[in-house]
Amino acid sequence: THQWRGVIEEYRDLLEIPEGTAAVTLREGGTALVHSEWLSGLTRGEVWLKVEGDNPTGSFKDRGMTAAISVAKHDGAEAVVCASTGNTSASMAAYAAKAGLKPLVLVPEGKIAAGKMAQAILHGAQVIMVRGNFDDCLAMAKGLAWDYPVALVNSVNPVRLEGQKTAAFEICDFLGDAPDYHLLPVGNAGNISAYWLGYGQYADLGLATRKPVMRGFQAEGAAPLVTGEPFPDPETRATAIRIGNPASWKLAEAARDESGGSFESVTDDQILAAQRELACHDGVFVEPASAAGVAGLLQQLAGGTSYAGKQLVVTVTGHGLKDTATALEGFGPLVDTVVDVDVTAAAEAAGLR
Ligand code: F0G
Repeated sequence: THQWRGVIEEYRDLLEIPEGTAAVTLREGGTALVHSEWLSGLTRGEVWLKVEGDNPTGSFKDRGMTAAISVAKHDGAEAVVCASTGNTSASMAAYAAKAGLKPLVLVPEGKIAAGKMAQAILHGAQVIMVRGNFDDCLAMAKGLAWDYPVALVNSVNPVRLEGQKTAAFEICDFLGDAPDYHLLPVGNAGNISAYWLGYGQYADLGLATRKPVMRGFQAEGAAPLVTGEPFPDPETRATAIRIGNPASWKLAEAARDESGGSFESVTDDQILAAQRELACHDGVFVEPASAAGVAGLLQQLAGGTSYAGKQLVVTVTGHGLKDTATALEGFGPLVDTVVDVDVTAAAEAAGLR
């Protein structure tokens, strides 16, 4: 018996990373593709959830980070920097710790979920909060990497996409081909670009007979790819995708156009409702931003789009435990029921009879 080796060792021949790069890995990837009875029923199709919260630090970022940190280490870097809405920084800090590199993180002040902040700090990152948004942090991270001896590991570093495209490989390997449609949340647009790269590579190699239609979903208050204009003041409670000027804008548009796909926005209320429904129906707890793809699917079904007979994959990008504060908002009475040590009292409170 052997365990999953992590995305570099599982797919090394298909990744563009320098030959002989030693893998810095926490055995990321190999995440579950969970069949959704709920969404399959609603679509009268076949819907699979790619559960990226299964990764070591709880989000899809680990796929790209194993690649970026391995290459940074290979190149002799001693420190690494990233801008982040939380998950990239959590992932970078963990892999930097494993590699013995010094992690430096720039995050927008007050807009990071507590779980993600805890991860960065516990893994030993220097966390700097910036009075600005993610886009400001990214500009600063680029400036630091330009002027100082720190390697940039945001997805503007192409090695990140090399690692992240392995999610598309895993989906094709499991389903036996690419699905008809792929839906996912979009923020800085690295992930949709990486999936498109991965699907394209599998098709070119004859490992898949087709490529999916790509559908990206953004929060209404941070939807530059939908409107075609940057958002100077992006705002959404799905803080992971609170981004106004995505770095991979061009690549993401190419993924949309070449696949015959689309970008759409969903409201915060739709995102939070989808998060709860997914947890209740399918037993999959994701963070708010991660539910944008599911919210988008529900919106399309309500609008009359038909997916009957089709195969869909929806990526849910990060774990629900990252941000329990947002998840519990609006559940006052459910978490406030307190009784004495008394079976009858508990039964009464629960409405049992
Ligand atoms: N979902 C989650 C949970 C994320 O953390 C992110 C991005 C996305 C979706 C969007 O992916 O940027 O590739 O389009 N988080 C980045 C971060 C920005 O800093 O953690 P994308």
